[in-house]
Amino acid sequence: MSAVPLKISGVAKEFTASGRRHAVLAGVDLEVAAGEVVALLGPSGCGKSTLLRLAGGLDTPTAGSVLVDGEPVREFEPRCAVVFQEPRLLPWRTLARNVAFGLPRDVTGDRARDEVAHWLSVVGLADFARHRPRQVSGGMAQRAALARALARRPGVLLLDEPFAALDALTRLRMQDLLADVQREAGTTVLLVTHDVDEALHLADRIVLLGASPDGPASVRLVLDVPGALPRDRGDAGLAALRSSLLGELGVRTPAAVAP
Ligand SMILES: Nc1ncnc2c1ncn2[C@@H]1O[C@H](COP(=O)(O)OP(=O)(O)OP(=O)(O)O)[C@@H](O)[C@H]1O
Ligand SMILES: [Mg+2]
Repeated sequence: MSAVPLKISGVAKEFTASGRRHAVLAGVDLEVAAGEVVALLGPSGCGKSTLLRLAGGLDTPTAGSVLVDGEPVREFEPRCAVVFQEPRLLPWRTLARNVAFGLPRDVTGDRARDEVAHWLSVVGLADFARHRPRQVSGGMAQRAALARALARRPGVLLLDEPFAALDALTRLRMQDLLADVQREAGTTVLLVTHDVDEALHLADRIVLLGASPDGPASVRLVLDVPGALPRDRGDAGLAALRSSLLGELGVRTPAAVAP
């Protein structure tokens, strides 16, 4: 499937826990154009994962709408694929069988085998097709989870801190891999991350989600990241943007501290 747009309008989400209502999101508007990469940043607990789940049809909003390619998102939306912080692979299945699990139902037989081999090779796991999740590293398992998501050929790829549990070097490699795959497949991407540098490296736009004084979170800031992708990690032009984003997130930086 080719890239499709995602449109989130006036979305609110309330949870009821122990008999008390808890408003997490209110009035969230967010559009991701077809083929665009948007990074979603915000403090822990502000509702980023909740918003991503709503975008993928894994939960329903209390108010507002989520449109995938102009149509209301469905339960477990087939046009979207989600990658979580941990791989969530089936432990008794080989990596190849796990990736096959992501294929659309009408892809079977030789074509299924070819597609699985293709996606495993895209994420650098061609030699590990017959390994089981416990026989590979955390980074490799996460790459298999990415391959499973890509095998769906999703119109929208939803990523919830997919690299957060990886060591720093593996994380950088995975970011480059994602940039390559996104360029090749042209998929629309909504990437939840805590990592400002990851957002600056990968995203066309950065959306900051934050709580309002009365509780629920909404979009506080939308930034266009200058410079074409793939972006140089050492780009000095991004330093000011990095400082202001860290400042928004409550992290003091030398630039923010200086008088
Ligand atoms: N199923 C649920 N039932 C009740 N409350 C929930 C549920 N899911 C999320 N919440 C609450 O919604 C709020 C937002 O949670 P969410 O996981 O979306 O935050 P987050 O921004 O992804 O945080 P983090 O950066 O730590 O992953 C939290 O207060 C959480 O307790
Ligand atoms: Mg989260």
